[in-house]
Amino acid sequence: MIESPYQPSPDRYDDGMIYRRAGRSGVLLPAFSLGMWHNFGSGQAFSNVQRMAHYAFDRGITHFDLANNYGPAYGTAEENFGRLMERSFRPYRDEMFIATKAGYDMWPGPYGNWGSRKYLTASLDQSLRRMKLDYVDIFYSHRHDPETPLEETLQALVDIVRRGKALYVGLSRYPLEAARFAFRYLAERDVPCLLFQDRYNIFSRQPETSGVLSLSAASGSGFVAFSPLAQGLLTGRYLDGIPQDSRMAAGRSLQREVLTDAMLERLRALNDIARQRGQTLAEMALAWLLRDKRVTSVIVGASSAAQIEDNLRALENASFSDDELARIDALSRE
Ligand SMILES: NC(=O)c1ccc[n+]([C@@H]2O[C@H](COP(=O)([O-])OP(=O)(O)OC[C@H]3O[C@@H](n4cnc5c(N)ncnc54)[C@H](OP(=O)(O)O)[C@@H]3O)[C@@H](O)[C@H]2O)c1
Repeated sequence: MIESPYQPSPDRYDDGMIYRRAGRSGVLLPAFSLGMWHNFGSGQAFSNVQRMAHYAFDRGITHFDLANNYGPAYGTAEENFGRLMERSFRPYRDEMFIATKAGYDMWPGPYGNWGSRKYLTASLDQSLRRMKLDYVDIFYSHRHDPETPLEETLQALVDIVRRGKALYVGLSRYPLEAARFAFRYLAERDVPCLLFQDRYNIFSRQPETSGVLSLSAASGSGFVAFSPLAQGLLTGRYLDGIPQDSRMAAGRSLQREVLTDAMLERLRALNDIARQRGQTLAEMALAWLLRDKRVTSVIVGASSAAQIEDNLRALENASFSDDELARIDALSRE
């Protein structure tokens, strides 16, 4: 059977997606981006990868978040993205904002990890080959390397932009003082940090408490929140047990131990608030992030197009009363 070519929805930009400006830049990003850490690699049927990616793009999600080590297995989310590029996405390349990163262990030996110029440069070249791209829209240092001089990591990012392999650069999970130094260093070289990426959700409030969310905004950088659903905990997924096809059942990055009786009680109470708002727990957890205008985009993971559909409904109600916020705050304390 000959597959008919992919035709994106003609309504993709008139379907309720909101676009927010990334800091002081010319870039607008969708309020929701699609994260490809889990469920987009070789362990997943390509038909489902394709369904989720097409559904996302059809709904106005123009930003796809990858990294060299996403899969599982490492590299295979980028390989699948390359297949999407070849099979369906190529004509729409200029409508897409594609991110990748390097910073975690990727290949053996001393040059396949952390923040050296050697690693970052080689890793991005490999990523571009896997994704069948000439350039990415943003390349991130995936984590701060305490051993490598920060100037070396940052200058490698600057040079990657100068060589045209990335249009913008970003930082992920940098501690506050390293982030402060990096924002200044990059801005002074006219390659300002476009996006700072950190874990942020109802349970993980570190970007607020560390000050990095305020610092990003003051430095002109956009902010993207990852693991907005606490890897699925902040959804209805675990309210009645652990489904076999869930991330928790796989046990790689979300452990069963977090689902204590006390945690279940908090989740049920949050679910009640969501229900009173006419939302699912997932929708409320995502809307809660969007209420803060400093959050440029929320990067959501998914294992089905139906989850993406549910998550997009969060856009319909992202305002909270003071009472709701206070009740959510009380339940978020760890
Ligand atoms: N910079 C970094 O260091 C870093 C670190 C982590 C993540 N990220 C980025 O952020 C993205 C998102 O983070 P994440 O995948 O950890 O977490 P997440 O978005 O908090 O959780 C995604 C998981 O939640 C479940 N889910 C999603 N929507 C749902 C819905 N409507 N109803 C029920 N369950 C739902 C799915 O679990 P099931 O699979 O069980 O169905 C899905 O895989 C990643 O893909 C990656 O791009 C970046």
